[in-house]
Amino acid sequence: MSSSVTGFSRRKLLLGTAAVGVAATTTAMVFGRGPLAAGHVQGSNPLKIPPLDLGKIENNTRVYDLDIQHGKTEFFGGLQTPTMGINGSYLGPVLRMRENEDIRINVTNSINEDATLHWHGFNLPAIADGGPHQVIRPGATWSPQFKVVEKASTMWYHSHLMGKTAEHVWAGLAGMIIVDDEQSQTLDLPNTYGVDDLPIALQDRRFLQDGTMPYAPSMHDNMMGMTGDTPMVNGTIGAYFETTTSLVRLRLLNASNGTIYSMGFSDGRFFKKIATDGGLLAAPVDVQLISMGPGERAEIIVDLSDGKNVTLTHFVRLSQSEVSPEFSFLELRPSPNSTMSKPISNTLATLPALMAETAQNTRRFDLDMRGMMGMGMGGGFTINGEQMDMKVINHTIKKDSVEIWEIRNLSRMAHPFHIHNTQFRILDRDGRPPEPHEDGLKDTVLVLPGRSARILISFKHYTDEKVPYMYHCHILEHEDAGMMGQFTVV
Ligand code: C2O
Ligand code: CU
Ligand code: CU
Repeated sequence: MSSSVTGFSRRKLLLGTAAVGVAATTTAMVFGRGPLAAGHVQGSNPLKIPPLDLGKIENNTRVYDLDIQHGKTEFFGGLQTPTMGINGSYLGPVLRMRENEDIRINVTNSINEDATLHWHGFNLPAIADGGPHQVIRPGATWSPQFKVVEKASTMWYHSHLMGKTAEHVWAGLAGMIIVDDEQSQTLDLPNTYGVDDLPIALQDRRFLQDGTMPYAPSMHDNMMGMTGDTPMVNGTIGAYFETTTSLVRLRLLNASNGTIYSMGFSDGRFFKKIATDGGLLAAPVDVQLISMGPGERAEIIVDLSDGKNVTLTHFVRLSQSEVSPEFSFLELRPSPNSTMSKPISNTLATLPALMAETAQNTRRFDLDMRGMMGMGMGGGFTINGEQMDMKVINHTIKKDSVEIWEIRNLSRMAHPFHIHNTQFRILDRDGRPPEPHEDGLKDTVLVLPGRSARILISFKHYTDEKVPYMYHCHILEHEDAGMMGQFTVV
């Protein structure tokens, strides 16, 4: 099994050293740094598990009813925070569906402003995508319908209103989707929802003393992405969960607006990564730390058979060899009566070999920032020198053609580049093949400053000459500031 740390350096010697760094700093573990956060000890609130929504079957179609609403959420004792959610006050249910099913989602907008819901990670007709062109007016119901062509995976949904995605997601308009397929259900993997298979939506928020979390980004936040000092999982601050099995599967989703997380465990223990954004890896990969940009998912398996409490943690790197815990997201507390899980399968999925020679076309996407001081003064975030314009189709792509997209980051900060209506594979990063734990189906690729990534991509399922799909940076403030473009598949 190989081991790796994403995104920082490929030198493997880092790992041993990083482990020492982790161990040395665990005693300094803090819950967060904000004034309110400081009063909350880690592990003070039971992890909220969103309701599982299986929809209902009508004429061979699985139908879900979602309602976008305003609400108030108690994050801290006694304080009611105004929020937005789907079928609830903050975030939404976890939708569960199977490959090859026809689904319909009736989305009613019960807030007093426009919104959308985008099905992030899915191949689907452009009119069902839920991007900026599928606005749901207040009081209206939008009912997209599509066939699930995805493999077993962890996807998600969120508002994608032009210029307002960041504000909507910050307020709570997001949720997770679990896709199952025939093969995945024959594998030995923890799969009891809410018991040994947990949805883990990672976010950070900034609260005022009165308990509100207004979306009021400063110039700096618009530049760097809106970040908070208070971490939460599924809207739970200081979360703990009592585990009852020796192995637990965590479906990690970076649902933050602008924070790149480096996820690991407080004691530096290794864990297994089993899935990337769009599905299971060919085989589990041992890792100690994985970096996840906003929008990315990773399914991991953690071994708790030593019976010790351990905390799912976001670390910041202090140097090449040292990391320090930044956010304590979730304390796992093994119950003394835990049962032994079956060892997980060694083979998870069959992934086609990457064949760059099959590509008929190469497109380049240069990510840049223009007029650093000048957001609002003609500056902003660009892709190939352009900013998002709802009226401009930047690329027209032939259905079924295989292409190489080369994403180059010319700016001084990292950008998670996301593409709708596809699951792609990473061919290489700066000429080097992807780490084994990234070598799977992806819809978002984190590209560090000055670096590049080449991906192999194809749009296999739908065409629409008029309605475009999006590609964009998933730091939501960057997306809203124009770091987005449109393509049609014909
Ligand atoms: Cu997660 Cu275009 O979005
Ligand atoms: Cu998307
Ligand atoms: Cu960006």
